[in-house]
This record gives sequence, C-alpha cells and structure tokens, in this order.
Amino acid sequence: MNELLEILEKFSHKKIAIIGDIILDKYIYGEVDRISPEAPVPIVKVTREKYVPGGAANVALNINALGGQAYLLGTVGEDVHKKILFDILTENNLSSSHILTDPQKGTTQKTRVIALNQQLLRIDHEDTSYLESHFEKQILANITSLPELDAIIISDYAKGTITQQLMQKLTTYCQQKELPLLVDPKPKHMRWYQNVFLITPNRKEASQMSHLELANKQQIETAGLKLQQELNTRLIITTGKDGMSVFGENHPLHIPTAAREVYDVSGAGDTVVATVALAISAGASLEEAALLANQAAGIKVGKLGTASVSKQELAEKLGE
Ligand SMILES: Nc1ncnc2c1ncn2[C@@H]1O[C@H](COP(=O)(O)OP(=O)(O)OP(=O)(O)O)[C@@H](O)[C@H]1O
Ligand SMILES: [Mg+2]
Repeated sequence: MNELLEILEKFSHKKIAIIGDIILDKYIYGEVDRISPEAPVPIVKVTREKYVPGGAANVALNINALGGQAYLLGTVGEDVHKKILFDILTENNLSSSHILTDPQKGTTQKTRVIALNQQLLRIDHEDTSYLESHFEKQILANITSLPELDAIIISDYAKGTITQQLMQKLTTYCQQKELPLLVDPKPKHMRWYQNVFLITPNRKEASQMSHLELANKQQIETAGLKLQQELNTRLIITTGKDGMSVFGENHPLHIPTAAREVYDVSGAGDTVVATVALAISAGASLEEAALLANQAAGIKVGKLGTASVSKQELAEKLGE
C-alpha cells in the first residue's frame, strides 16, 4: 500500500479535462399515505428535494475531491436547470467557464421520486441528438486553450455530446501531445474508441461490446482480450461486487472489491475513471491505477449521499 500512498501524494494539481454529457440529477423525497382520486397512482407529499451534478460533472467533482484540477467541458441548455447546476459547481470550486450553452437542447436532467425507501418514478428531460459541428469545434478550441493538461477523460453517456468527429479529433490530439485519453464508454459508440489509452466499461457494457457473456473470470478474460485486440486499447472492466479486471501490457489482473459495506453503488464508475486518470497522470502503472481506483470505489459505495471520495479518505483507507 505504501507505493499507492506515494502515487496518491502526486495527485495534487494534476490537470484533467473531462469532456462529456453533463447531467443534473434531482431527487424528490416524500411520503405516501393515499392514492390519488384522479388516477390509480400514489400521491407523494414532498418532504425534501436535492440536486446533484451527474455524468461528466460528477467525474469532475471526483477529480477535484481527490486533489486534482478538473476542467469540465460539455453543454447545458438555456434554462433554470443550468443555473442550479452552475451554482452547485461554483459551491464545489468547479469552474463552469468552459461549458457551452446550447439553447436548442436544454440541460439533461434525471429526476427520481423516492418514497417508502424506494424509487417510485424517474422522469428524464433529455434530447440525445448529437451536437452541431460548431459546438464540437468550440469544445476542441477550449481544450487547446487550457493550461497544459495531464490527461483527458471522455464521460460518454450517449446524450449527444460525444460525436464520432469529436472522438476522432481528440484521439489524434492526444496522440500528438502524448496525453492519456481515458473513456467511460457506451457500447453504441464502441468503434469510436479505437486507439485510445483506456476504456472502463462495466460488465454489461463489456458484454454488449464483445457480444459475450461475462459471468466468470474465464469469460471476463476472453471478452477483455477480444476487446483489447479489436479496439487496440487497454481496459479496466468493472464488475460491481466482484471488483474489476485489468487488461494492459501484462497478463489480465483481477482485483476483488475493497468495499466493506454497500449503501449506494450509483456513480462508482465515475469514481473509478477519475481515480485512474489521476493515478496515470501521477506516473502509476495501469495495475497500480486500478488498485487505487478499486480502493476509492470501495469507499464510494460505502457512503450515503455524497458522491465524491476525498484524497484524505483514500489516504486513510490505504493506511489501514
Ligand atoms: N455491490 C458492490 N459491492 C462492492 N463493490 C462494488 C459494488 N458495486 C460497485 N462496486 C465497486 O465500484 C466499482 C465500479 O462499479 P460498477 O462496476 O458497478 O460500475 P458502473 O456500473 O460503471 O457504475 P455507475 O455506472 O453506477 O457509476 C467496482 O469495480 C467495485 O470496486
Ligand atoms: Mg458506468
């Protein structure tokens, strides 16, 4: 663990750009004690509402919490959700100055209604059409205007920010600059991720991309090696309660989960890609980066409410 602590110490001020789908997650909590007279549905009496940045914005928050310097790029709409999101980003010392406003599309928002300790309904505001090319150009121009970066993360939730053209340009740019390009992928766009530094699919995404089942270690290895070949990239396949599997220059490495208690697994994938990007920027091997990310994800899933893992928390866990 000592080597990992040394790597963690080097996270400070590493500059990471996150390009992707910016999402505003809204949670409405309430109580149900009667059925509506208007339709056979429960009436939720709202007790609390909460907004949390999601998607690429959550990856950026994770970078900052771990001591790095995040630059968030993507688009939002010209609406009230944009203001709510920007206020939360500001509160978290995350600049919104590189985020573009696309009045045509609106801000992507996912609203969950929760009562009786369960989710009753999810309401999505989204327009998944691809960005127009002038926005792509602006994103690329913004990237080149940033201070010298240590890595770029693509956080692709298939909401339209990541286009084939943008992926192509970024892959070439990162090759020229010798910058690691890490992708949290969506199977739909798998061909676009050829030749990137790393992709971090979860089990289901890896299964859809490889057309294989990933039920045991053997199957995970077969699928991982197939994707590694086909896409000419490294992979970390995250496998939920089973941890993760690493496919780089060495023989595949399977790492069991570091989680002791599990309360909330959503966003664990964002924690993984953020930690790996910082670790690689700090000079870690892919295996070391995965070991660190696995520890960070273990902390994340054990927490209720907060989405990010701090550098301090990760250092304490490594010191145990
Ligand atoms: N149920 C669980 N028990 C223990 N560890 C978990 C669990 N779920 C996730 N983890 C940890 O979090 C990491 C990432 O989780 P997972 O594979 O679910 O990613 P994901 O599906 O991309 O997550 P999300 O999309 O919700 O952000 C795993 O590699 C593991 O370390
Ligand atoms: Mg994921």
